[in-house]
Amino acid sequence: MEVSTAAYLAESRSRQLAELIDWLRIPSISTLPEHAADVHRAAVWLTQALQRAGLEHVELIETDLHPLVYADWLHAGPSAPTLLIYGHFDVQPADPLDEWHAPPFEPTQRGDDLVARGASDDKGQTLVLIKAIEALLQTVGRLPVNVKFIAEGEEESDGESIARYVATHTAKLAADAVLISDSHMLSPSQPTLLYGLRGMWGCEITVRGAAHDLHSGTFGGVIHNANQALAELLAALHDSTGRVTVPGFYDAVRKLTDTERTLLAAVPHGEREILDESGAPAIWGEAEFTVVERTGARPTLEINGMWGGFTGTGFKTVIPSEARAKVSCRLVPDQDPEAIGAAIERYLYQLAPPTVQVSVQKSFGAPAFIAPLDAPAVHAAVRACRRVYNVDPVFMREGGSIPVVNLFQQTLGATIVLMGLGLPNDNMHAPDEKFHLPNFYRGIELVIAFLEELAQP
Ligand code: BES
Ligand code: MN
Ligand code: MN
Repeated sequence: MEVSTAAYLAESRSRQLAELIDWLRIPSISTLPEHAADVHRAAVWLTQALQRAGLEHVELIETDLHPLVYADWLHAGPSAPTLLIYGHFDVQPADPLDEWHAPPFEPTQRGDDLVARGASDDKGQTLVLIKAIEALLQTVGRLPVNVKFIAEGEEESDGESIARYVATHTAKLAADAVLISDSHMLSPSQPTLLYGLRGMWGCEITVRGAAHDLHSGTFGGVIHNANQALAELLAALHDSTGRVTVPGFYDAVRKLTDTERTLLAAVPHGEREILDESGAPAIWGEAEFTVVERTGARPTLEINGMWGGFTGTGFKTVIPSEARAKVSCRLVPDQDPEAIGAAIERYLYQLAPPTVQVSVQKSFGAPAFIAPLDAPAVHAAVRACRRVYNVDPVFMREGGSIPVVNLFQQTLGATIVLMGLGLPNDNMHAPDEKFHLPNFYRGIELVIAFLEELAQP
């Protein structure tokens, strides 16, 4: 990095932080329709930040739902590589509100952390990428590689609009590599590159028994309780060892090779860290796999929510007529979301007793992502980590999903570099989400180093 760039970064910190705080004040919750205007405001804010950074062709792209934001800087020359940078400006809902120590959309600094919804997922991490570009354009006046930037406001719902856009704008987005900071590093001093993310398939299950709620004295013992029927159905989806019982669920799962098991065994993250981060009393799941293997390379089926009957204060002796659950799977290579969804639906209908009616409504699906490690852009990322952190990055797979990643890989044929700057205890999606500010500033240096290294074949 040039001296002028380093000096610029040193004197820009308070302004960069002020900008992040400004962006975090916008409650851009993509899954709640009443926040659609806020998602739009966050997109407009982003277009202004990209303009300030010196990027060109800044565009707010309207879609059927939430807008996309595009920008580029393409003056590094035809022989220089092209990097597509991705981020998302939508956030998860903030509930339960009473568990936050400060209001989620009034960013508060606590020690080295900035606490707010979206702080690390993903506004903070996205702004790191923009600030790296800004520092170079405002000092050196150019970038070492061609850069395209795209961000979406639907990542936390399903990423449908960006999927449609990528499929129809392949030439516009063409790139040699895609850089994404929307994940964790294992510690503030341990850079971490992900080479895999899990996919998803989700549905809502409805169980209907009687035509309306019934007196449990008059009908108890003769009419199947919808809550009970739902609980029986859901309980049948796992066996006592934690394996999913849906026929065919594991058929396509790509086996871990010995090489990969060795690689993952070296990840300095285990049961102790997971117990600390989660606050749970014990570890659960498939005992024949390590926790790193289980979260990265094994599929799951989770009951995200279940409701029905009387849940208010006090007591109501009722047989509920209807009960519902939201279920989602994390999928791994080479599971096909559609095939898994069909197998789950089939199994649920097969298990459904004649005493109730079961219906399954699909919400969405996205395939898993896995990348080869031997690519120029990955080598450039490794060199950048060494330069800025003085250590080699850890390579691992993560359990989270970024729906569009697989599509970037398939349609653009680009190398995906997942360089996370969050921390495992950042409380993504949870109360008191935070971003560790040393990661913000050092992350900017890391991204600058990556851009420089990417230009060196
Ligand atoms: N940034 C996360 C994904 C993530 C988290 C990747 C941690 C790696 C480590 C992303 O914003 C996210 O939460 N995705 C959702 C997608 C879903 C709503 C379609 C997820 O994984 O639940
Ligand atoms: Mn994210
Ligand atoms: Mn998220």
